[in-house]
Amino acid sequence: MSGSVYRVAEPDPKALDELFNRLLQTEDEALIAARKAGTAAGMPPIEVSAQHGRLLSILATAIRATRVLEIGTLAGFSTIQLARGVGQEGRVVTLEYDPKHAEVARENLRRAGVDDRVEVIVGAALDTLPTLADRGEPFDLIFIDADKENNVAYVEWAVKLAATGSIIVVDNIARFGRVLDPAPDDLQARAVNDMLEMMGAHPRLDAAAIQTVGTKGWDGFAVAIVKEPAE
Ligand code: SAH
Ligand code: DHB
Ligand code: MG
Repeated sequence: MSGSVYRVAEPDPKALDELFNRLLQTEDEALIAARKAGTAAGMPPIEVSAQHGRLLSILATAIRATRVLEIGTLAGFSTIQLARGVGQEGRVVTLEYDPKHAEVARENLRRAGVDDRVEVIVGAALDTLPTLADRGEPFDLIFIDADKENNVAYVEWAVKLAATGSIIVVDNIARFGRVLDPAPDDLQARAVNDMLEMMGAHPRLDAAAIQTVGTKGWDGFAVAIVKEPAE
């Protein structure tokens, strides 16, 4: 439109994320410290963005989740947000393969004051998930964010461990668009593609896939609700 008063910015999703973090006061000292501790321990900086983390917290609170399951802890950045979302009486179980990651996460959770409501279970998730089924306590919210190759299996487990009305969130459904037409050797992108197909065909899931830009580039997450089993 000629003579428009609107100014269109050059695309700078990272700077905009930083603005959101500042204006919304998204990160406190415990979250900043958790991120730094992960990097200092040599972990890749692949935790959810501050905004995505806050969304997880809001979601947990909004659905009044009291039991949350996370697959993939890293340094516990997203875990802290989930733990905050469930409140003091809530519980979070988080599954982590690497004992060093789990150790850093436990320290971060302690610093954030939520260690009493979080259980970090060390091991390959496909080995530890069956022990959760044995407990027989369903989860209200399940956040899947570990090795993408196992995403189909993780969603199947999530449905098994969920109740009707539970929410499943899966991170990294775009990965710079690699999921659109995965290269034959891109096993992660293929697995995400397979997972989305599986979610779409699943009789107990209604799912949405949301693309995002921001500090972590072009990516996104899927959100699904677990429906009543068919008669
Ligand atoms: N949710 C975290 C980021 C997780 S990164 C956050 O947003 O802060 C992915 C994590 O999954 C890594 O710590 C990695 O060690 C872990 N992981 C990889 N394979 C796994 C497996 N088979 N079982 C459990 N955890 C696994
Ligand atoms: C990777 C994994 C993640 O969970 C993520 O959010 C970003 C990147 C990765 O393995 O590269
Ligand atoms: Mg991720």
